[in-house]
Amino acid sequence: MRPLLGKHLINRYTLGIMSGTSLDGADLSLVRFKRDYSIAECHNSYARFPSPLRKELFEIVSSKVVSKEGLLRADKRLGTFYLKSARAFLRSLGAKAETLDLVGCHGQTVHHSAEGSGRAAADNVTLQIGSSDILAQGLGVPVLSDFRTADVAARGRGAPLAPLAHFYLFNIRRTGQLVINIGGISNMTYLPGTADVSDIVATDCGPGNMLVDQICLKSFGKPYDRNGRIASKGSVSEKLYRFLKKMSFLRKRIPLALGREQFGDDVVDSIVRHADTLGVDEDSVISTVTRFTAYCIARAARRCRKIDRVLLCGGGSHNMYLCDLLQEMFPGAKMHDSSVAGIDPDFVESIAFALLANLTVDGKPGNLPQVTGAAKRVTLGKMTLA
Ligand SMILES: Nc1ncnc2c1ncn2[C@@H]1O[C@H](COP(=O)(O)OP(=O)(O)O)[C@@H](O)[C@H]1O
Ligand SMILES: [Mg+2]
Repeated sequence: MRPLLGKHLINRYTLGIMSGTSLDGADLSLVRFKRDYSIAECHNSYARFPSPLRKELFEIVSSKVVSKEGLLRADKRLGTFYLKSARAFLRSLGAKAETLDLVGCHGQTVHHSAEGSGRAAADNVTLQIGSSDILAQGLGVPVLSDFRTADVAARGRGAPLAPLAHFYLFNIRRTGQLVINIGGISNMTYLPGTADVSDIVATDCGPGNMLVDQICLKSFGKPYDRNGRIASKGSVSEKLYRFLKKMSFLRKRIPLALGREQFGDDVVDSIVRHADTLGVDEDSVISTVTRFTAYCIARAARRCRKIDRVLLCGGGSHNMYLCDLLQEMFPGAKMHDSSVAGIDPDFVESIAFALLANLTVDGKPGNLPQVTGAAKRVTLGKMTLA
């Protein structure tokens, strides 16, 4: 193993790998950070899951019971996919490949059930798969993975973890910024523009693309509503909208940590059935659920005063119908995607896990107790040596 802990931070090349609840594929970022964790150099690449792997993962994450054999096979297959994708990415960068020092791999969440914190956190559990050993052996560098369990062990909800990375990547003194990440689940980070990380406010908001994706697949055989085109053809059904606002997670106190568990098949079936009873056409179901997605985001952010600008990231930032709704909901703020701050909106999360891996290696905590409910700040992740 090459020296890592002693190596100067600004020379450390880190590969961040993220695959989120959308189950679309893996985002990869090769990043070199400056001493203050701002970005000195960054390259990005996306690797879509081949459909057999996506199907296998989808079955595991949406089943209540899975076989030990099935889970272990998926862990290995996903680790192998990450490795193949990382190798191809590094190859495409030529000489950069040899300079790799560290990997921060989020893995694929198979189960995340962590609604309580403090005393109510006893039953919190989280599991990410994607073999870190396969990555470490194959790339010859140490891999940090399993970022959420340290926070859960500290009686937190284990999510969201991106907020501290958002602070390092986007914070501007005296500017109120709301970072909204629209993945499968949506989460928001409010950066009030101070230097104190305990001022950060962040939470999961509700569904991101997850509900719209699943309904699109059911009704149109499409994996998602590209650029919000279907939604823009329909209109919002007030009755269906009111029905959606009765979802149980909206009765829970913010901050929240949400997962696929809250927006699974049963929820989707009940929405589609109710829309049918109301006679809402298929386009309008998508418009209404997209509006509900925007509502959940705005609701989560309603206590954030002084929002000067909103930075959108994640795949949902390409949904123009959703972006227009969000602009209406934050009338006083300038709305951009994160590229205005120099970061590709599709890779904020993979860069975030590269950054969190660096914090850990530098002995610094990566969670925020006011966000996850943890009893204290902890260093995140497990290291697998090459
Ligand atoms: N052009 C687009 N128009 C609308 N939605 C998009 C577009 N591109 C991606 N998406 C949405 O983004 C999702 C992937 O977002 P991503 O940020 O990778 O989420 P996750 O972190 O959950 O994997 C897709 O499943 C899709 O719903
Ligand atoms: Mg994704």
